[in-house]
Amino acid sequence: MAQGKVDALLGIVFGDEGKGKVVDYFTPQYDVVARFAGGPNAGHTIIFEGKKFVLRSIPSGIFDEGKVNIIGNGCVVAPDLFMAEAKELEAAGYNITDRLLVSRRAHLILPTHRLLDRAYEAAKGKDKVGTTGKGIGPTYSDKAARIGLRIGDLEEKDFLARYERLKARHLQILSDLNFTDFSLEEDERNWLAGAEYLRKFQLCDTEVEINRRLLEGQNVLAEGAQGTLLDIDHGTYPFVSSSSTTVGGVCTGLGVAPTTINRVFGIFKAYSTRVGAGPFPVELFDETGDKLREIGHEYGAVTGRNRRCGWVDLVALKYTIMVNGITDLVLMKSDVLDTFETIKVCVAYEKEGRRTETMPYDTEGWQAVYEEISGWQTPLTEIRNEEDFPEAFKAYIAYLEEKLSTRISIVSVSPDREATIVRS
Ligand code: IMP
Repeated sequence: MAQGKVDALLGIVFGDEGKGKVVDYFTPQYDVVARFAGGPNAGHTIIFEGKKFVLRSIPSGIFDEGKVNIIGNGCVVAPDLFMAEAKELEAAGYNITDRLLVSRRAHLILPTHRLLDRAYEAAKGKDKVGTTGKGIGPTYSDKAARIGLRIGDLEEKDFLARYERLKARHLQILSDLNFTDFSLEEDERNWLAGAEYLRKFQLCDTEVEINRRLLEGQNVLAEGAQGTLLDIDHGTYPFVSSSSTTVGGVCTGLGVAPTTINRVFGIFKAYSTRVGAGPFPVELFDETGDKLREIGHEYGAVTGRNRRCGWVDLVALKYTIMVNGITDLVLMKSDVLDTFETIKVCVAYEKEGRRTETMPYDTEGWQAVYEEISGWQTPLTEIRNEEDFPEAFKAYIAYLEEKLSTRISIVSVSPDREATIVRS
């Protein structure tokens, strides 16, 4: 039997591109759906049969009873939040314990990691990153510093002693930072209950499990979290998350070889959004930005914050397509632009008389240069065949494909599963 393959689905801007919906749509084509990076900073929204679910740590393939879902070693897990998320799925009738494998090598987010996240942000003042406050940065820092706790530690007899040691270290740092106005008790109680709850799942060496399944010919969908511009290496550092959100993160975060990777789907919206601080050359501070936010419901799935909105950015997209080797683009939320007479597209950046069409090292202070194209001014949400797209929308797709030298294979025109149009 031929060896199975790994396809990756990656957000290629600042996250919130709509990955949850597309993974859910793709799931029937795969045997395994695996998360390889990030943690509860993600909020993957899936709507079907009138119900809305927001997944944070659990892969979006969980709704398909026949599929195996994996939280890979590159992820970070908060047991209390995981428990809340899993119980909500159980309450909705999904039996997930048999179908969800959690890597022993994934790191645990402690309650004190969340406090450190807040304390570091407070200490940064106006330079704060605007994190989700879920303890992501401090947990990955401890991983890199080789002092973190892992899922596998839950199985050790001295787990509590290990937990107390790391907690004491964190409390010392918090005290050094004069960050003392908190109460840990309730959070810790929930967290320890979550840790106990996690033990009933299959905690295993997921890298071995995935490779065994690949050898058997099974196919894997690697579900990205956040987006390439939030990647610790390739994002707009230091305004980034702390994990590898790119295709490289698929290999390290699941333990699969680069040669197993087949298609790399890059998902982006017909306009841009960003949550939290950091450079965003296409940001609109006017009514158009407000209109995009309102029509696109651009409010954070995890934090509820207003998302910053702007036009689509080809400078950024060319860069993120390059670093990920994107084979197929997935265009989301074009319907949000239905009422616009003209649509702008950022084709270059300018700063102090300099112009660039390639992503600069530091995107701070650059102004977007736009080209303007005609809008379609026709509702797209009910369309299910690409032949029925208005001509101006077909022209917009062709324009993007030409500029990005990459095919747009899938177009989504509403949150419904059925509104996902695979182009021939
Ligand atoms: P952290 O991942 O919580 O450390 O946050 C770092 C930056 O990434 C902040 O600007 C967050 O708003 C942003 N961020 C983290 N996760 C997501 C996501 O899933 N979607 C969009 N932005 C995110």
